[in-house]
Amino acid sequence: ALTTELRTQLQLREVAGIPLQASTVDNWSQIQNFEAKPDDLLICTYPKSGTTWIQEIVDMIEQNGDVEKCQRAVIQHRHPFIEWARPPQPSARNAKDCMVSYYHFQRMNQMLPDPGTWEEYFETFINGKVGWGSWYDHVKGWWEMKDRYQILFLFFEDIKRDPKQEIQKVMQFMGKSLHETVLDKIVQETSFEKMKENPMTNRSTVPKSILDQSISPFIRKGTVGDWKNHFTVVQSERFDEIYRQKMEGTSINFCMEL
Ligand code: A3P
Repeated sequence: ALTTELRTQLQLREVAGIPLQASTVDNWSQIQNFEAKPDDLLICTYPKSGTTWIQEIVDMIEQNGDVEKCQRAVIQHRHPFIEWARPPQPSARNAKDCMVSYYHFQRMNQMLPDPGTWEEYFETFINGKVGWGSWYDHVKGWWEMKDRYQILFLFFEDIKRDPKQEIQKVMQFMGKSLHETVLDKIVQETSFEKMKENPMTNRSTVPKSILDQSISPFIRKGTVGDWKNHFTVVQSERFDEIYRQKMEGTSINFCMEL
């Protein structure tokens, strides 16, 4: 069990209205001053949008499909989070599935606030009062930025529908060219089933006091449209209305089911 003191330290605090973990807030100036080198590759995702998935894909491409090399360390060490490196990463996922995934993640992650009931979490999420801030601001912000910088904007739903095509896009973006058979291998090795069983990607080495996978597994369901199992019709309609207001003026279009 976590001590009260530790819990206080882990409570979300805000920077410019964005709830972040205390350790991130404490190191904020250093993190904000980070300057990328020309060949740095930053993965920018909203939480629960397939961060781990794209991390594994990028590493598999980097290692030319060498599975053993990708076993060298757990994923969080192969791709350190910039906001934890006593110094964020765009992949986007539709808001409803993301909210479902985040809800289950907050249930099992003892370092994040308890999400409360699904109804309560609905309000928290639409108000952006979750760790790393508002889904809407994240997605709109990166979408506007994507043509001005060297950014590859990916959708979780596209990777799910056609992993090979999307992995190929990542490969080209990284300036790599891999043989067809290597690409097929990467598709296989980064499948939901494989990554769920892989101790280097499934967070099974993280203690239960931090991630309690008996409550909800880290690699949980990995589907498009799980929101239908959580949202009532009334909630879904209300969500759509709020979504229209918050996303007004952007051209981004999300796939809600496959
Ligand atoms: P669900 O909770 O909907 O299952 P992140 O890595 O950003 O925390 O995102 C976690 C989400 O990505 C979880 O969604 C998880 O199951 C899903 N995921 C992880 N690896 C995946 C894979 N190889 N294929 C499909 N989904 C994957």
